[in-house]
Amino acid sequence: MPVITFANTKGGAGKTTAVLLLATELARLGFRVSVLDADPQHWITRWHENSGSLVGGRLSVVPYVTMSTIDRQVAEEKARADFVLVDLPGSRSSLLAKAVGHADYVLIPVQGSAMDAQGGANVIELLQYLEDKADIRIRHSVVLTRVNSMVTTRAMQAVKDLLAARRVHLLETPIIERAAFRDIFGCAGTLYSMDAKRISNLDKAQENARALALEVLRQIPAAVRQSGKAPLRNVA
Ligand SMILES: Nc1ncnc2c1ncn2[C@@H]1O[C@H](COP(=O)(O)OP(=O)(O)O)[C@@H](O)[C@H]1O
Ligand SMILES: [Mg+2]
Repeated sequence: MPVITFANTKGGAGKTTAVLLLATELARLGFRVSVLDADPQHWITRWHENSGSLVGGRLSVVPYVTMSTIDRQVAEEKARADFVLVDLPGSRSSLLAKAVGHADYVLIPVQGSAMDAQGGANVIELLQYLEDKADIRIRHSVVLTRVNSMVTTRAMQAVKDLLAARRVHLLETPIIERAAFRDIFGCAGTLYSMDAKRISNLDKAQENARALALEVLRQIPAAVRQSGKAPLRNVA
């Protein structure tokens, strides 16, 4: 089943947060999701260990993914999950090239700053290289992260203009800067088990994560068909 690799050669772009949000939303929609945690900080592995069984046990995490293990791990997880999500370190590495090579779809989280756009551009260059040299075309989109809910900053507009000029697909749904997204790694559980009284705009965070998952599903409709089942709604 499809592999979605999250890549940006800059740390702090919002990769791990995007992986967690998409993984939990897809699992809530009824899909079996497996996350390959190749981020040396192991945020997702730790969060998953603290959280216990979540979303009907449909979310699993494979810790310690390395150059020598990734091929086998991807093959195993593809065989048993509807979606395999790969979280990568924030650096240019051979692991990144391998994980991108395995991907059916690459999501490139980019923060609305010029420096971050460069980390995203490195990934786009790699995808272009694969297309030019090996005729391998991998569908990919940029997702803007940590977007201020109130204003379109000039830096953000500059990133959008740059992507449009290079004809890079941009997801309509940005990941907004939200306390819930920041705090989720410190909590056990999902956006749906957090305390709405303590976390501002939790409902908006839930809406945002859900819109992101639905848009990603529209980007890979074949994936939904292959999984052989319609997504369920409102699964706890
Ligand atoms: N949408 C968001 N809202 C609030 N905080 C965020 C958001 N996305 C990322 N962060 C915070 O920014 C930091 C870097 O994000 P992270 O997802 O770990 O990036 P990466 O995996 O690319 O290094 C973390 O402290 C994370 O909690
Ligand atoms: Mg990370």
